[in-house]
Amino acid sequence: MLYDKLKSYKESGIYPFHMPGHKRNDIVNDGILPYNIDLTEIHGFDNLHNACGCIKEIEKKAEKLYCVNRTFLLVNGATGGILSSIRAMTNFGDKIIVARNCHKSVYNAIELCGLNPEYILPDYDEKYGVFTSVSPHKLELLLTKNPETKLVIITSPTYEGVMSDIKTIADICHRHGAMLFVDEAHGAHFQFSDKFPNEAVKCGADVAVVSLHKTLPSLTQTALLLTNNLELSEKLQENLSIFETSSPSYILMSAIEKCLDFISDNKSDFEAYTNRLSDFYNDTKSLKNILILYNDKSFLENCFDYDFGKIVISSAETDISGAELGKILREKYKIETEMSYTDYVIAMTSVCDTDEGFGRLKNALFEIDNSLIKIEKNYDDYNFSEIPERNFNSFQKNSFNSEKIMFKNAQGRVSLEYIWAYPPGIPLIVPGEVITDKLINQINILLENNIQINSTKNSMPDYIYTAEND
Ligand SMILES: Cc1ncc(COP(=O)(O)O)c(C=O)c1O
Repeated sequence: MLYDKLKSYKESGIYPFHMPGHKRNDIVNDGILPYNIDLTEIHGFDNLHNACGCIKEIEKKAEKLYCVNRTFLLVNGATGGILSSIRAMTNFGDKIIVARNCHKSVYNAIELCGLNPEYILPDYDEKYGVFTSVSPHKLELLLTKNPETKLVIITSPTYEGVMSDIKTIADICHRHGAMLFVDEAHGAHFQFSDKFPNEAVKCGADVAVVSLHKTLPSLTQTALLLTNNLELSEKLQENLSIFETSSPSYILMSAIEKCLDFISDNKSDFEAYTNRLSDFYNDTKSLKNILILYNDKSFLENCFDYDFGKIVISSAETDISGAELGKILREKYKIETEMSYTDYVIAMTSVCDTDEGFGRLKNALFEIDNSLIKIEKNYDDYNFSEIPERNFNSFQKNSFNSEKIMFKNAQGRVSLEYIWAYPPGIPLIVPGEVITDKLINQINILLENNIQINSTKNSMPDYIYTAEND
């Protein structure tokens, strides 16, 4: 039974350097059984879709804590907020500009809302195979070329913790008559220490979504939509009623409140947390083969800013892959990380991590480091920094005859599916785009590195649904 499996995992002694941010410790849990507090919109318990009582009170707490004019509680993850925001900020057929490294929920919104995207590629760090920041200058050029653009969508921070210059980007968007939406799913903790980067709405984004469950002590699926643009409130509310469940969980909503209260009452814990991070980075500077991105000045110079709460551990100059490093951490040291990619592993941290957890990770890295050999790898094959040629927009995909063919033979055909590695859930190809040899090669490399490849119809890695390229 899943329930038994979950309970025994808790006893297994494996340390979680992954979401959810409560890290399964009892910091905000007062022992209440979920069944005892699970109810629906009965008298006296307000209604998420028309909040005016106890749920409104939670929204007000969040507005105060995040210093914004309006928040909405999200119980379908950041995903529900992303779909709702993008639909609220556009009309069918609108031109938008989208950072190509956005999460698939953004691409789903683009398809559902019938939008016409122009992609912007963030800069790319060749050494680590990681997207860095979106260039404000490149964005300005794209906006000048596409003056009808209604909305710009950026992910900041990225999964790897890289920030873009939201203040400059927001100014540019507004000067060109476009709004700015920031997927800030990984930045819910920024508000609570000045050692973290600035929050998107404070920097001028019209709307941002933060996932509480990713980096704060809250239950999975909890998130917040934040805005200072009150003119958008009604449209946001209207769309949240479409994309969010009509039976929002009171357990999740009360977890949001407990998380907010915990933060208000324990601000000093964030100082201890950021000190723990600083110590970890200082102590790991002497690793010989393994590289830690935050400890590499040349990497930081490629980023506008960086969230050091993300520990990104690179095996790029060693004889093992990221997936192998993740496996060793799991099997030998009982440390589960958030994700492993071709050449790196992400350890997600939060205010709920312990000295013991950080110590275990540090010791494991030093032991592994001693057993590795320094080598040079060829990075060309790992490079995802190209936007494929597009035949049609994703929302048009059902108008084309679909043929299921072997992926290895798909070169030159037009994809009718999204393909993504999970995590991070960023599409490698979008319906309407042409499949190239290079993409086939890149996906093979990911598969060889034991990275899970998904596609819309679950046909990958063997098959892909395609249309003719004419
Ligand atoms: C950058 C980014 N945006 C959005 C999401 C979706 O968030 P959620 O799982 O809270 O729906 C994710 C999930 O990992 C993500 O990494």
